[in-house]
Amino acid sequence: MREAVVHRARAAGLAPPIRIDGVFDDPGVIRRLVQRNGPYPTMASYLPVSAVQGQLAAGDGVSAHFRGTWAAGGHPLVDGAEVILHNPRLLRAASQLFDAEVIPNTVAVNINAPMAAGGIHVDVPSFRGADRDRYPMQLLQAMAASGLFEDWRVAEAGAVWWNYQGPGGAYDYWPDGLDGPMRSEQPPFINSALVADNNRMYHRIGWIGDLAAASPILSAAAQISHHADGGWIISDSGRAPVRYDDRDIRISILWKAQVRPGLQSGAAAPLTSELITGIISADLIRRGVQAPGQAASLSDQGWLDLMHSAYYVPVSAATSRISDTTDPPADRANRSGPK
Ligand SMILES: [Fe+2]
Repeated sequence: MREAVVHRARAAGLAPPIRIDGVFDDPGVIRRLVQRNGPYPTMASYLPVSAVQGQLAAGDGVSAHFRGTWAAGGHPLVDGAEVILHNPRLLRAASQLFDAEVIPNTVAVNINAPMAAGGIHVDVPSFRGADRDRYPMQLLQAMAASGLFEDWRVAEAGAVWWNYQGPGGAYDYWPDGLDGPMRSEQPPFINSALVADNNRMYHRIGWIGDLAAASPILSAAAQISHHADGGWIISDSGRAPVRYDDRDIRISILWKAQVRPGLQSGAAAPLTSELITGIISADLIRRGVQAPGQAASLSDQGWLDLMHSAYYVPVSAATSRISDTTDPPADRANRSGPK
């Protein structure tokens, strides 16, 4: 196995990302696991569209970005996921990144068909008493954006492993913050990963696919699954299925591990649903977003949408400094139909 530290730049408080080659003993096992465990729902079914898409895809339906969760709370949810969850190379690099013991927690699978660049973002973090095993990602993302829950934030290492050898498909990231230069890991991706503090380091999926093919217009209810005869099929209600060859589909696996807290941490009691709604409601009332006396509940989707839109601002709307230098030169809207 060869491990190479690719960035030792002065990160703005962030540990420099660590690239690993030769992550899995047999990457074919991982590919087959991904193919077997569909169908996968859209990423937009987990998070509002504004939180996951880049500027080019906005208003044209949701991106062809699909997601499955294979391990949560440190436990595999899918047969075979333990090979990923307990991968010793990811574990070693994550421990090196934070110079601390880490505990593997989450494995998620991303399936991307040809699409415009994804939204620049940081990952949804965990808080003591509130993580994605218990609460919707929409709530956790808004909690992070609010800055009201930093006393409960749990440090996490994130690794992204890729499988893709087609056009585009880069992994773009900003290890020195959005004021610093953009870095990219470029295909061919066969069996490599980048380990970083993805909850604080901005990153995105670059544009994917053949410039001659158009991205389908999808609803959040679309799904993708692998066909027994090979290739992938996107199905969506009221629309004709869209088929892709295996080589057209970018697979990535997100692995997360929690940094074991030090002796000095953990002063605040773990969050409860009452504490979360109380803190947010008080802030929203102070800001005039929520009326005094208005009911607030984590099971009320209307309230979740209200608080998310109050706190979460997509990077593209928050700054004009980011240029899409890795976007393809052609007008992607003028491409011919998908295969
Ligand atoms: Fe991410």
